[in-house]
Amino acid sequence: MKKDAPIGIFDSGVGGSSIWKEIHQLLPNENTIYLADSANAPYGNRSEANIVELSIKNTEALVAMGCKIIVVACNTATTNAIDLLRKKFKIPIIGIEPAIKPAALGTHSKSIGILATKGTLSSALFHKTSEAFTKDISVVEIVGEGLVTLIENGAIESLELRKLLIKYTAPMLVANIDYLVLGCSHYPYLIPQLKEILPDTVTIIDSGEAVARQTKIMLQEIDLLSEEKKAPTLQFFTNAETSTLEFLLKEFQGKIAIQKKEF
Ligand code: DGL
Repeated sequence: MKKDAPIGIFDSGVGGSSIWKEIHQLLPNENTIYLADSANAPYGNRSEANIVELSIKNTEALVAMGCKIIVVACNTATTNAIDLLRKKFKIPIIGIEPAIKPAALGTHSKSIGILATKGTLSSALFHKTSEAFTKDISVVEIVGEGLVTLIENGAIESLELRKLLIKYTAPMLVANIDYLVLGCSHYPYLIPQLKEILPDTVTIIDSGEAVARQTKIMLQEIDLLSEEKKAPTLQFFTNAETSTLEFLLKEFQGKIAIQKKEF
């Protein structure tokens, strides 16, 4: 494998672009290929078998495009499929999980909230991690039903979305949380609104930076960090319309290529 081979990143849709931003910030010389499986989003209400099937399809596509490492930028795909992906593919695979540990270590009120998809919250991997770190802590788990679809449709600033955020965070506030864990890679795009809705006493955390750091550590370990000095190739493929990705990545306009493609 060549050091300038791309990092492959996939998500059920546009949300993992929040993870791509962290990876690109930490590893600005790396070539990247991002796959948004928006035609099949949301994954959150699908069966485990179906999520595994879609995750294999996405990984196969990225491997066929010559990627040196795969980042599963989707909590739902990670918590349901990463063990199988690691068994099936030889290539290193980095996943993303809700950041329960830092929230559990940081909480003073001994109460934390987790907003994630049904698929993540019902997964065995999520339960295992949650049980390991939250023994003396109360955890308010809320399914963010409808949020991913609204984000996919570009309705981030809609009243409908704001109403859902108010509804989903209300029981968390009643439970006196001081940490909100965003357990879905689409949700970092909701942080500005969540900050307006939640009091300053609530710290909002996501896993994007940790995933970027983990990707760098893995590339160092396998000696595949890029040594390129020229501007990287930053490709985005979606199997639906390109407009939402273009909106979410507008600050990178001119530096990235976003295309529609079947995969
Ligand atoms: N970005 C995915 C995640 O992190 C969204 C899941 C979905 O498509 O429902 O869980």
